[in-house]
Amino acid sequence: MNRQEISRIAHTGHPIAAPLDDDSVRQLLDHGLPRGDERVLDLGCGGGEWLLRALARHPRLRAEGVDISAQALAHARTAAAERGVTDRLVLHHQDAADFRSPHPFGLVLSVGAAHAFGGLLPTLAAAREHLAPGGRVLVGDGFWDRTPSPEAVEMLGDFADLPTTLERVTADGWTPVHGHISTRRELDAYEWSWTGSLAAWALDHPDSPDRAEALAVAEAHRTEWLRGYRDSWGFLSLVLRRTDG
Ligand SMILES: C[S@@+](CC[C@H](N)C(=O)[O-])C[C@H]1O[C@@H](n2cnc3c(N)ncnc32)[C@H](O)[C@@H]1O
Repeated sequence: MNRQEISRIAHTGHPIAAPLDDDSVRQLLDHGLPRGDERVLDLGCGGGEWLLRALARHPRLRAEGVDISAQALAHARTAAAERGVTDRLVLHHQDAADFRSPHPFGLVLSVGAAHAFGGLLPTLAAAREHLAPGGRVLVGDGFWDRTPSPEAVEMLGDFADLPTTLERVTADGWTPVHGHISTRRELDAYEWSWTGSLAAWALDHPDSPDRAEALAVAEAHRTEWLRGYRDSWGFLSLVLRRTDG
C-alpha cells in the first residue's frame, strides 16, 4: 500500500485531515468568509473537504485547490460531483510552493500542510502572494503544548510553543481575527478515527493482501501517538488579516 492509499482509508471517518471537529471547521470558515462570494484558494487541499464545505455553504463562492497527491485530488473531484459543486471548483495537481494564479483570492487556506513550504511563516509568505487586498488567511499548524521528547520532534518536526507561535505570526505583520486551539477531544478523536478506520478496513477485508500491512500501520501509528506525542503536541488554527491592511 502506498502512503496516499493508507491516508485515504485512514481518513474515511474524518475527511478533514486535521484534528478539528465539524463545528470548529464551520466557525473557522465563517470567519474566513465574511461575504460568501469570495474566491478561495487551498494550498495542500488534500481531498478538498474544506473547499467542499465552503462551496456547499456559499452558492456564490468559487474555489481552487492545489495538492501533489493525484489520489487525494481524484477523491476531491468525485466528492465535488456528488455535492453538485464541480462547476465552481478548480483543482491543480502540483507543488503548492510553485502554484501561481492570474487572480488574487479573498481567502487563502492552508491547514496541516505547512511542511510543504518549510514551516508556518513560509506558508504565510506563500499565502500572502495570493491574497487580495483586505483578504484573509486560514492556517492550521502544530505547536508544542509541553516540552516534546526528541522522538516527538523526530516524528512531527519542530514547532514553537503557543505564545511564541502567536508572537512570530504577529511580528510577521498578521493580526489574528479568529482562532481555535484543538481540544483534547478533537485531538484524540482524530487519532482514534485515523487508526480505527484503517484497522477496521483491514478486518473488513480478511482476504486482502494488504490486510496485515494495514493492521501493522494502524498499530504503529497508535503507538507513536500514545508513546510519542499525545502529551506534547497541540494544533492551532488561525484566521489572519494583514495588520497593515
Ligand atoms: C494533513 S493533509 C491536509 C489536507 C487538508 N488541508 C485538510 O485539512 O483536510 C496535508 C496535505 O498536504 C499535501 N501536500 C504535502 N506537500 C505538498 C506540496 N509540496 N504541495 C502541495 N500539497 C502538498 C498532501 O498531499 C496532503 O494532501
